[in-house]
Amino acid sequence: MFLSPSLLAADFSRLDRAFELINETDADWLHLDVMDGQFVPNISFGFPIIQAAAAHVRKPLDVHLMIFHPERYVERLAEAGAWSIGFHLEAVDDARSVIRQIHQAGVRACLTINPQTPVADLAPYMSELDMVLLMSVQAGYGGQSFLPQTHERLQELCRLRNQVAPGVLIEVDGGVNESNAGMLVAEGADALVAGSAVFGAKQPQEAVRRLKNGSC
Ligand code: DX5
Ligand code: ZN
Repeated sequence: MFLSPSLLAADFSRLDRAFELINETDADWLHLDVMDGQFVPNISFGFPIIQAAAAHVRKPLDVHLMIFHPERYVERLAEAGAWSIGFHLEAVDDARSVIRQIHQAGVRACLTINPQTPVADLAPYMSELDMVLLMSVQAGYGGQSFLPQTHERLQELCRLRNQVAPGVLIEVDGGVNESNAGMLVAEGADALVAGSAVFGAKQPQEAVRRLKNGSC
């Protein structure tokens, strides 16, 4: 299982500590949540933070765009050092062209769906993707409670993936913690995003260790 701590839950006055946590622990990726105040009500951060992460983090940057017009930013994100670029199916008219643009920029492409979007809507794109991101909360804010219907949706997504494109990774994002991580991995998740469960923990290093070990 790949663990991708979400920077959104970190202390932004001490980003150096957050970057060090990623570098010094078994965290696999760093998840970067970009919000535009349009596709989602919230605004998070953009290029200055992504560039700082790229300069200091020695692990892949897993960028999650919660924005309209992701196509406007693909090349800049690639230049900034994104390892994967995820965007929402609900935010675009032509997901296929964005997937191709991401690949042309030399980056892994990840398609994301919110909890109310049918899993089957991903099917036409599956074989062109590197990863799919299943939201287990409504995109927009960290610290929300995990939606229990995610379990059934994850199992459906796993069946779809296994039939159509077995190499595609499945990542789950939102409300992931030590009590649900093991089950999500058992149900087919390859990667888990964890914001509050890592950066909100009293001992973030321990939290990374337990999330990794408890669910491998
Ligand atoms: C929500 C973001 C998540 C969020 C996860 O819109 O996509 O990545 O930061 O935070 P937790 O783990 O606190 O739910
Ligand atoms: Zn996210």
